[in-house]
Amino acid sequence: MEQSRIAADDLELPSEPVGKEVRRIAKKVFIKTFGCQMNVYDSERMTGTLVPHGFTQTDSPIEADLVILNTCHIREKAAEKVYSELGRIRQLREARRRMGADSVIAVAGCVAQAEGEEIIRRAPAVDIVVGPQSYHLLPSLLERRAKGEKGIVEIEFPAAEKFEAAAARQPRVGPSAFLTVQEGCDKFCTFCVVPYTRGAEYSRPASEIMEEAQSLVERGAREITLLGQNVNAYRGAAPKRGHWDLARLLYAVADIKGLQRLRYTTSHPKDMSDALIEAHRDLPKLMPYLHLPFQAGSDRILKAMNRRHTKEDYLRIIERLREAKPDIALSTDIIVGFPGETEEDFEETMRLVDRVHFAQAYSFKYSARPGTPAADFATQIPSEIKAERLERLQALLRTQQIAFNKAMIGRSLTILWEASGKNPGQVTGRSPYLQAVHAEGRAELIGTISAAEIVGAGQNSLHGVIKNRESIAIYQEV
Ligand code: SAH
Ligand code: SF4
Ligand code: F3S
Repeated sequence: MEQSRIAADDLELPSEPVGKEVRRIAKKVFIKTFGCQMNVYDSERMTGTLVPHGFTQTDSPIEADLVILNTCHIREKAAEKVYSELGRIRQLREARRRMGADSVIAVAGCVAQAEGEEIIRRAPAVDIVVGPQSYHLLPSLLERRAKGEKGIVEIEFPAAEKFEAAAARQPRVGPSAFLTVQEGCDKFCTFCVVPYTRGAEYSRPASEIMEEAQSLVERGAREITLLGQNVNAYRGAAPKRGHWDLARLLYAVADIKGLQRLRYTTSHPKDMSDALIEAHRDLPKLMPYLHLPFQAGSDRILKAMNRRHTKEDYLRIIERLREAKPDIALSTDIIVGFPGETEEDFEETMRLVDRVHFAQAYSFKYSARPGTPAADFATQIPSEIKAERLERLQALLRTQQIAFNKAMIGRSLTILWEASGKNPGQVTGRSPYLQAVHAEGRAELIGTISAAEIVGAGQNSLHGVIKNRESIAIYQEV
């Protein structure tokens, strides 16, 4: 689930002096992204905000005049990673200073929001701490730094302003694009930091979203994934009067000519409305895949988590989804070792997984987060027990994922080709069920949808053969 723009190893210092090079280049920004897709989208928007101020993007931190870490606070490990990363970035800055160049270090994202000034105390090399709602202020924060101000912290919460910021248009658009429609969360699950780091639920007005979707398609997107921490709680101002819910928004976006695929994530079971389930039946562009976290299989634990749904509610939703769209592939998030979880509770999680059959899933050991209610529950579970349960759960999930993938062998799937593969002459893309697919094929395929026969399947990807390689057959999925 965690996404990063470059591998951590890329941060190693270069072996040759590059002093001249560094001085010649005007302004470059390097952004490393941790955490969820929302952060990936935000990183693109940050770049969009900086481009009009003379910045270009670089994938090499040693070249960067501005290094931004876009961070995640969801689990302790994710948050601590930021500090080890900052140590390396500080070394890079010292190397640049020896070459007569300087760089600005900024921490953005959910750790910035949650820890604020504490970051500067722990890592004094950090120049700017900027929360997720304040990215449009980056240029002015950089100006303050240029004037000599130290330890700048900007973590206010005006969500609407962030989206209104006109300059924040993502400069690079690939075949598959993210579009944030909703941000923040009012659900307050007792384990989760998101309501504190992203604030209250905010839905963007539908007309603003439609405009951005249209522009993404004009600039080459063939697939759009609508994003939100609680995307199916979306309730944005309608173009004329009243409000649109997510289902209504999906129908409108699906009407955009040239758009071929549509997805949305992440949903909460409580907001899985009838209209949304019907959209899966009625909208051919809506891909047959849904990420629907259930977190735990025991009603007692779900209650302690403040999830506001039961195991039966979840199973009923899955049943209705499968009635509406029989081939829908399901994905989920699961936490093991939540405070008070007994062996019997955990087995209920295993039984629920057994009943649903997931195409893929993310599973985590419960991590106590400061400031959340569950962190203070007295019944914390020892880490060996969490590790042992996670192992058992992941073994079951792995079996399901492999079975799901292997069932594709011999089938012809439509693939949206997104990038060149690892080896020359290869392309990679995604099936309707979000599986990664590799095939021999020319780079011209990128941005098109064509059929591939699936000839191999592993846990994490499929191998396909593009049938009609000469006259690249483009299949309109709609
Ligand atoms: N808004 C999304 C998920 C946000 S966080 C939703 O409601 O599903 C992504 C996942 O991280 C969660 O679904 C949960 O499974 C996991 N997670 C969140 N807080 C956690 C914690 N304290 N410890 C372990 N996993 C956690
Ligand atoms: Fe966190 Fe729960 Fe909100 Fe999801 S619904 S972001 S898990 S508080
Ligand atoms: Fe992490 Fe923040 Fe996303 S805590 S999962 S980056 S909303």
